[in-house]
Amino acid sequence: MKTPVMDALKKLVEEDSISFHFPGHKGRTTNIDWKKLMPMMDTTETRGMDNLLDPNGIIKESQDEAAKVFGAKKTFYVPNGSTGSNYIALSVVCQRGDKILVQRNCHKSIYNSMILNDLRPVYVYPNFNNLYESTTGVRPEDIKDALDKDPDIKAVCLTSPNYYGICSDIEAIAKIVHDREKILIVDEAHGPHIKFSERYPKSAIDSGADLVIHSTHKTLPSITQTSMLHICSDRIDINTVRDRFQLYTTTSPSYLFTVSNEMATAYMEVEGRNRLDDMYDYIVDLRKRLEAIDGVSVLQKDPDDETIFDLDISRILIGLRGYKGTELMDILYRDYNIRMEMNDYYSTLAMSTVMNTKEDFEKLYEAVKDIAKREKRKALEKLSIDMPRPTIAMSPAQAYFSKKKLVDLKDSIGKVVATSVIPYPPGVPLLATGELITKELYDYLMFLLENNINIVNLSEDKKQILVVED
Ligand SMILES: Cc1ncc(COP(=O)(O)O)c(C=O)c1O
Repeated sequence: MKTPVMDALKKLVEEDSISFHFPGHKGRTTNIDWKKLMPMMDTTETRGMDNLLDPNGIIKESQDEAAKVFGAKKTFYVPNGSTGSNYIALSVVCQRGDKILVQRNCHKSIYNSMILNDLRPVYVYPNFNNLYESTTGVRPEDIKDALDKDPDIKAVCLTSPNYYGICSDIEAIAKIVHDREKILIVDEAHGPHIKFSERYPKSAIDSGADLVIHSTHKTLPSITQTSMLHICSDRIDINTVRDRFQLYTTTSPSYLFTVSNEMATAYMEVEGRNRLDDMYDYIVDLRKRLEAIDGVSVLQKDPDDETIFDLDISRILIGLRGYKGTELMDILYRDYNIRMEMNDYYSTLAMSTVMNTKEDFEKLYEAVKDIAKREKRKALEKLSIDMPRPTIAMSPAQAYFSKKKLVDLKDSIGKVVATSVIPYPPGVPLLATGELITKELYDYLMFLLENNINIVNLSEDKKQILVVED
């Protein structure tokens, strides 16, 4: 047979691009020499080894060590990414039918977890930052108001930092949540590293969250799919976590993932921690230098900006006047062999970790400077991203498991959407599974389509939408 994946991977290795994308190891070796140990290290529960699903030997010891490093009560290595951790987390704190307060721009794994666990969402909307045309974090006051308005809410689930490194005030929120005897889950998929330097935003673990989810593979030197679920308070029953872990985890967990979680943590405990601290001033300076280039903007935390509580400076969101994010990202790859993590309408994102060197950053700086010297362009027209707020017609699970059909967008008004329709930007579902399509939402969707905004989960030709059959 043909081997297109292998062929593409060989080409990728040959290209040897500079990586400002996931995974956090950046193709570089830390304290683990994969070349020497593969494939023998890919093993199972044989003599002398342990079982991730019921650990009582080396894996138990390793998870206990990791818990100490992260300052958690208990840490679980999860081999299905933060997606798997989010499935487990929501199922641990809620029973079927429970209400949960969820940040509207959470990751789709949270939406999926609400479907799998049959939960009733109440949404809290994030702030919107007009300068960067981007959603940011949530305000503690909004959490307080939502919980006071609906005392039946069982738990709160927030994302911090977000993809751009923007953090909410988790400490203040944890107090509000606990004063009302609820549970706080923080999807910190993008922030396992922030724990390791005081100069970075305070981690959710240290801010009083009860359950914290980490994508080890995103920001630590660890392989794709590795994640950790940290239990941080006595409000969480460990036996329920063990039980749900069995429900959502493969019965053949990978030792490569397990050891990668372990070694990434061991690396961060000493060497990684020092690197984070050492690179801090350099990255702050680099961000300033980038911003000083004519036409370039970099998302920054302005002390007067109340929409951004705190910012992880290792995420560098770069815009260039007149360039759409996708074009800038393409040019950086095509002409400079730099691979960025993602783009939105206006900008492209560099996702750096302790594995990036000063040389990588300098190449990025020189590339952006060079592109900015090309033809001068007029600024892109700003889009109004002030989205209407839909009404929930049925629970996500009810809509998801109903009979569904694709209908033309123009015929969808008055129907219940059976998927999440997500425009990028801002990456917040315009419609989440189970919500009602009104004329106002339809008009807004058309406006986004006319402006060539990428909308996920419509039909391929972007003319149809999945709805619940009447
Ligand atoms: C905020 C957030 N949570 C969870 C996930 C899922 O993480 P994973 O890819 O590790 O399953 C992502 C993925 O990008 C994410 O952005």
